[in-house]
Amino acid sequence: MSQWAFRGRIRVGFQAGIALIVRVWEVRLKALVYHGPGQKSWDTVADPAPAEPTDIVVQVDTTTICGTDLHILKGDVPAVTDGRILGHEAVGTVTAVGSAVTSLAEGDRVLVPAITSCGRCAYCKRAMPSHCQAAGGIGWIFGHLIDGTQAEYARVPFAETSVHKVPEGVTDEQVLFLADILPTGYEVGVKNGRVKPGDVVVVVGAGPVGLAAIQTGALAGAASIIALEPAQSRREHALRFGADVAIDPADGDAEEQVAALTDAGLGADVAIEAVGTPGTFDICTRVVRPGGVIANIGVHGAPTTLHLEDLWIKNVTITTGLVDGTTVPLLLQLVRSGKIAAELYGTHDFALNEMMAAYDTFAEAGRHNALKVVIKR
Ligand SMILES: NC(=O)c1ccc[n+]([C@@H]2O[C@H](COP(=O)([O-])OP(=O)(O)OC[C@H]3O[C@@H](n4cnc5c(N)ncnc54)[C@H](O)[C@@H]3O)[C@@H](O)[C@H]2O)c1
Ligand SMILES: [Zn+2]
Ligand SMILES: [Zn+2]
Repeated sequence: MSQWAFRGRIRVGFQAGIALIVRVWEVRLKALVYHGPGQKSWDTVADPAPAEPTDIVVQVDTTTICGTDLHILKGDVPAVTDGRILGHEAVGTVTAVGSAVTSLAEGDRVLVPAITSCGRCAYCKRAMPSHCQAAGGIGWIFGHLIDGTQAEYARVPFAETSVHKVPEGVTDEQVLFLADILPTGYEVGVKNGRVKPGDVVVVVGAGPVGLAAIQTGALAGAASIIALEPAQSRREHALRFGADVAIDPADGDAEEQVAALTDAGLGADVAIEAVGTPGTFDICTRVVRPGGVIANIGVHGAPTTLHLEDLWIKNVTITTGLVDGTTVPLLLQLVRSGKIAAELYGTHDFALNEMMAAYDTFAEAGRHNALKVVIKR
């Protein structure tokens, strides 16, 4: 069968050599569909096919849910409209390739990352596909501007410059979290924060993204990593993922707690914000030492007061960012060499048709002691 003969169709050959494509049954595919704030359902949807020559279609083998999906469901991301299939992280098997795709073939196992890269626009050429102009002005399109990966099958645009082949011997669970949280913690937290050997690093918020900053910050050579996190179970996770100390904001003023843990009470070289609230950003500006870096990762929905009256004299650098995913190959190497145990983020397993239950668990992650859910076909 040619690459254009999709599931649910058979190609019938006649003696004259004329091929006829006959639709023999209505393919029923399932996906998690957003229907406006607070509304989602596990719906029957259309069978995706390559729309552009650079597209592929993947069978979604393993996917997960992101905190951003919960933001969408609260109505915080108005660009996501009724009828959109959610999800921007997946490991899948290629089932169809567009005519321009030469380096991927049916049957290949690939990581579909959160960020799509055309590989050609000015931003992609400067290794910043987070702002890919061809993908839609922003590299995050799955489950945002186009249908996403919480589905049985997904169409993947600009496939050759976006997906990563999964090497033999690497499990779905080992690679799935390289789609979003691991490069986010590393690129937007550790790299933007310029963490270098010997640094004292404070990570505010020990959810999956903060834990990824802790895990990769330790690899970058931080001498000491202090996690600031109110939930006891997540403070325990922080220590498992490489923090040296995990402190509770309820135990006293965060600035004083961090000062007590650092040389001469100066504070941290790098403060990484991994929550997304005005208060936690403000804490970062207060626990950082003069000359340090504040790296914001959190998605903020409310304005934050920047206390320049205190900060102007501190020689600090403040960075922000949307993940690019350009470090995925490097992180994959670290997974393969055993330096990053990426599978530790997956705490709860579900089947694809249990998607609604997976959302229920993830939405109450604290109650279930959940980090990320692993959803498999
Ligand atoms: N910039 C990007 O590209 C990017 C990509 C992915 C996610 N994000 C954002 O990163 C942030 C973290 O993501 P996540 O999935 O880990 O979220 P999460 O909600 O699972 O984790 C946030 C953690 O912060 C803790 N927290 C709450 N209040 C706190 C306080 N006052 N002090 C310290 N900790 C506090 C919570 O207990 C929780 O453990 C979110 O805002 C998310 O939207 C950004
Ligand atoms: Zn995400
Ligand atoms: Zn581009």
